[in-house]
Amino acid sequence: MAAQDLESTARALVADNKGILAADESDGTIKKRFDSIGVESTEENRRAYRDLLFTTEGVEEFISGVILFDETIRQSSSDGTPFPHLLERRGIIPGIKVDKGAKPLANAPGETITEGLDGLRARFEEYRGLGARFAKWRATYSIGDGIPSEYCVWTNAHALARYAALSQEAGLVPIVEPEVLMDGDHSIERSFEATSRVLHAVFTELRDQRVHFEGILLKPNMVLSGYSAPQQASHDEVAEQTLRCFRRHVPAAVPGIVFLSGGQSDEDATANLNALNARGPHPWELSFSYGRALQAPALKAWGGDPANVEAAQKAFYRRAKFNSAARAGSYAPEMEREPVTA
Ligand code: 13P
Repeated sequence: MAAQDLESTARALVADNKGILAADESDGTIKKRFDSIGVESTEENRRAYRDLLFTTEGVEEFISGVILFDETIRQSSSDGTPFPHLLERRGIIPGIKVDKGAKPLANAPGETITEGLDGLRARFEEYRGLGARFAKWRATYSIGDGIPSEYCVWTNAHALARYAALSQEAGLVPIVEPEVLMDGDHSIERSFEATSRVLHAVFTELRDQRVHFEGILLKPNMVLSGYSAPQQASHDEVAEQTLRCFRRHVPAAVPGIVFLSGGQSDEDATANLNALNARGPHPWELSFSYGRALQAPALKAWGGDPANVEAAQKAFYRRAKFNSAARAGSYAPEMEREPVTA
């Protein structure tokens, strides 16, 4: 029964035309985003900003779930409704980021290990009580001279699997997020090689730690050229290399792969997802769990001014709609030129 619940939640998160909004920026990250629009990162500003996203009318057509941060899952909409209840009422599944961030990995300059396992079983119980039905844990890997090392790859894979097993024990679907970072001037081939090694380790550990594959979602990077590489791979090449890599390493039992945007422009993130789905059908649903690529235009339109809430909601609705189209391979860049009417 518990396994069936996990499976049905996982499948609902990757339902046709739908994907996930990542709104789980930690205090440090949301401050960076607010700095970019000249807004002070106070608890009330963070609440007001998340409120505008979560109350955007009609967005439940495109958004299946929202990943919340610890502070946000305890906050409420302006009418007093706790955010997790508000989302559930709209048919959107609330989730929670449970990792405590990537910290320097001992004896491994330039590499990180994600912390947060101690006390996690008790935290899962609390988050479940607050309404969370799925969770997220992110590991990061940099590409550089001799890195990612096998040490970093396997240490993070082990932690991801420990998290995933505890999450399923608590009845929450674990989103397993190994993110190979695309900063640097590396080629798409290096990105392919690093992503392959990471996925191999992650699925080995998940299996060894008895994680139920039908009740997880994978949230990976796409296989891209480094952002400062002299030559950027095309959307078609990104789709081909990403699929080649994932077919080799991700079991067909996994219901869905929900990509992170990872610093791609919002339009690139949509076009790449579209190119991936245009090559379907695939063994798994291919969807999105975007943070920046769903929020960037909304954040800019808002600018911290309550008078701009409607404009910001229109901008968010529009990106959600385009990414929903990309879920079906029916997005076209010309749609970007349509007037904002939603
Ligand atoms: P981005 O889409 O901005 O990479 O955020 C997704 C996320 O949740 C990163 O952990």
